[in-house]
This record gives sequence, structure tokens and C-alpha cells, in this order.
Amino acid sequence: MKILRTIASAQKLTTQLRIKNKVIGFVPTMGYLHNGHLSLIREARKKADIVFVSIYVNPLQFAPNEDLSRYPRDFIRDEMLCRKGGVDYIFYPSNEMMYPEGYSTYAIVEKLTDGLEGKIRPGHFKGVTTIVLKLLNIVQPHFSVFGQKDAQQAAVISKMVRDLNVNTKIKVLQTVREADGLAMSSRNVYLTKEQREDAPFLYRALQFAKRKLELENYNKDIAFLHGQMSKLIKSRKTATKIDYISFNDYETLREISSLKNAKNSKILVSLAVRFGKVRLIDNIVIKR
Ligand code: PAF
Repeated sequence: MKILRTIASAQKLTTQLRIKNKVIGFVPTMGYLHNGHLSLIREARKKADIVFVSIYVNPLQFAPNEDLSRYPRDFIRDEMLCRKGGVDYIFYPSNEMMYPEGYSTYAIVEKLTDGLEGKIRPGHFKGVTTIVLKLLNIVQPHFSVFGQKDAQQAAVISKMVRDLNVNTKIKVLQTVREADGLAMSSRNVYLTKEQREDAPFLYRALQFAKRKLELENYNKDIAFLHGQMSKLIKSRKTATKIDYISFNDYETLREISSLKNAKNSKILVSLAVRFGKVRLIDNIVIKR
């Protein structure tokens, strides 16, 4: 496994790999890898000749009041996990490499970024789409693998790739969970013992919605479900703030306010909840 720190070296290599018809699979990450990332790497390993992982905590997707400086980092451990996972190349650039002085070009996806995370974290998706487009131009992968836990991110990136005709495929894999249902996330390490005990209630709330929505003759509406989920989460002392619980069309991300408008559709139920300073997101997709 090799570590590439410059754009020129990565781009030169991937250009040569493409000429040799090698299939390049790519997993972009911000490091501090967990089993969720490892499942994305496994998928890439199954389908690609060459597996690239990028490790880069992208400052552009963090607002000034967010956790950029506290974001967990452990490159030595990440390197070991990538080696074990059969990764061929890690792209590990510096901020100066990715955003040199005078940098001024951005990728913006409209509409899909208006709600959910985009509403609570203005500017976040501009940072995500800009860095992902840059990484795709550098790594030139045939396909890239993302996790469903960041459902809106996956939808926004897929849209950008379609709209800008980027020559790559986007695969989205199921969220990997701890035994008690908590979605794996690099931010879980911040949770105190009490917060960690309460955090699985997010998944319980999502499952509550799933059970109800899958009932054939379910005769209550979104507002009721929202209220019940909210009650369940608020019953946990360490869940300090619900940023949102939202029901959206899975394809368009349009908000669904009544089940009458959601026949034969896939509903994305998603939530973001703060446990003190730790903000967790999760979601589930329900077919009706
Ligand atoms: O999901 C992430 O870890 C990041 O948003 C990504 C896609 C690596 C871009 O920085």
C-alpha cells in the first residue's frame, strides 16, 4: 500500500491505471475509520482492481462554530486499517495542497441541499460537493462508494455527478450499526458513557416509524409519528436538542407532510439530535 500526498502524483498514477484499463474503486473519507468505512472498502475491494481511499478532514464543510479542530484524527491507525482492508493507495493531502492561497472555485447543488442538513448547516454541502468533485478529478475512479448514513450527502453527490457528467458511478451502501442499533460514526467517540447509552434511541425512534408506516391500514399521519418519535428521544436525559425529525421523498428529498401524498413511494425518515456538543444523524428508508 502506498501513501500519496500530492495531487500530481495521484493524478499521474490514476491516468496510467486508466490507460491500462484497471478498474479504480474509491472510498473518500475524513479518516478515523470505523467498521462503516471498512464495509465501503470491502465493497470497493470486491469490484475494483485498484482501491483508493482518501483521508482528508475538509475544512470547507465545517462552519466556524462546528467541530473541525476537535474532529478525531489518527492517521497511523487509519493506515493500519487500510493496509488490513487491502487498500492499494491512500491519498492524504494537506490543506495547502487542496486549497492553495487564492482558491476560489466551488461546486454547488441547488434545491436538494435546501432542507435537512443543508438547512441546519448552511454552506456544509458546498464544502462537500467541492471537495468530492476535486477528489473525483484527482482519483478518476470508475466508481466511488458512500454510506447511506449520510443519505442527503449521497443524494447530493449523485446529483452533482449526473448534472456535471462526471465519468464515475456512485454506489451507496447500507448504514453499518453497533449491536444496539447506533449508526457507526467517527463522532461516536465523543459520547460520554451516559450519552452512549441513550444514543441507540435514535434508531429505536426510526424503527418505530418504520413499523407504523409499514402497516397496511395505518391511519395516523406524519405529525403523530413525529410527536411519538420526538417523545421517545426526549425521554433520554442526555438528548439535549432535536435539530430535526423529517419525512422526505427518498428521490427528490421533498418534505412529506401527509401520508396522503406518499402513496407508492420510498420515504426517507431522518433525524439529527444533539447530545451536548455531540451531534448525531441517522435515517431509515421505508417503502410504502
Ligand atoms: O462523508 C464524509 O466523510 C465526507 O463528507 C466526505 C464525503 C469524505 C467529503 O469530505
